[in-house]
Amino acid sequence: MELQIDKSDLKELGDTGEYVPAIGLGTWDIRDYRRAEKALIEAVNQGLNLIDTAEMYHSGRAEELVGRVAREMGRENMFIVTKLMPDKFTEPYLAEKAMRNSLKRLDTSYVDLVLIHWPNTAIPISRQITILEMLAEKGYTRYIGVSNFDKTQVMQALDSLKKHKIVANQVKYSVLDRYVEREILPTCIENKITIQAYTPIEKGGVLRIRKLIELSKKYGKTPVQIALNYLISRPRVTAIPKTEKVERVIEFKGSLGWRLDPSDIKALEEL
Ligand SMILES: NC(=O)c1ccc[n+]([C@@H]2O[C@H](COP(=O)([O-])OP(=O)(O)OC[C@H]3O[C@@H](n4cnc5c(N)ncnc54)[C@H](OP(=O)(O)O)[C@@H]3O)[C@@H](O)[C@H]2O)c1
Repeated sequence: MELQIDKSDLKELGDTGEYVPAIGLGTWDIRDYRRAEKALIEAVNQGLNLIDTAEMYHSGRAEELVGRVAREMGRENMFIVTKLMPDKFTEPYLAEKAMRNSLKRLDTSYVDLVLIHWPNTAIPISRQITILEMLAEKGYTRYIGVSNFDKTQVMQALDSLKKHKIVANQVKYSVLDRYVEREILPTCIENKITIQAYTPIEKGGVLRIRKLIELSKKYGKTPVQIALNYLISRPRVTAIPKTEKVERVIEFKGSLGWRLDPSDIKALEEL
């Protein structure tokens, strides 16, 4: 793919005209909820106010945490993303019940974005999208999107829409795992769908990569900041790293406000 660099730290969500931070925060696999609450509050204070959660995370405990943070920081100051399990997209009443339970845990009347956590391969994509649209129609969510959808599934989702837009596809994407760049990213760029890169720092695995350590010295940044900057340099790409440590939130923030040179991005593509 031809190298295009996006220098903005705010990215348009789909083609909604609304902008979200290039870096948000994930909430999977939290160990210490008190500590995580402080980290999420810091993230919102730092402008990293897109928080990703899911009904599945610790059986709803992560959503409850996001709800507490929203109470403290003001719901309107946050962009809340949640994900419902694919088995909920077989029948409208199942999705609606799951959505209402998520909203209760999140202590809010709406989320900003709800995603199908991964495609349900047992039923047509068109049925799942119809049910997803119903959630927006009923005002439970401002926007709808998908997660772990491949190119064909994204195209099927787009073809199934009646009224709403698919604004995001949340997929695994890091400088060490660039599979998305083959087909999914070009498809999303072409169709104005925002990518939310999950596991973007490979759970700290980027710290061990020699090239990232080398570049971190050149730029005066950390390997995590280099890894995140690589992702958000791409058009349409945002990232949702997870941490429950305040100092790491500040580290994530430091991946904004600058960009790697194109030659270094090219070098990272060779990893
Ligand atoms: N849609 C999906 O199917 C899907 C799948 C997986 C994840 N997600 C979402 O994406 C988010 C991020 O993905 P992820 O949690 O899998 O992986 P990640 O963000 O790549 O890594 C998170 C892990 O790395 C550690 N970490 C953070 N900063 C670090 C640093 N500077 N140095 C060393 N270690 C560091 C964190 O520990 P500390 O907390 O101790 O800092 C945490 O254990 C999730 O939380 C979730 O919201 C979505």
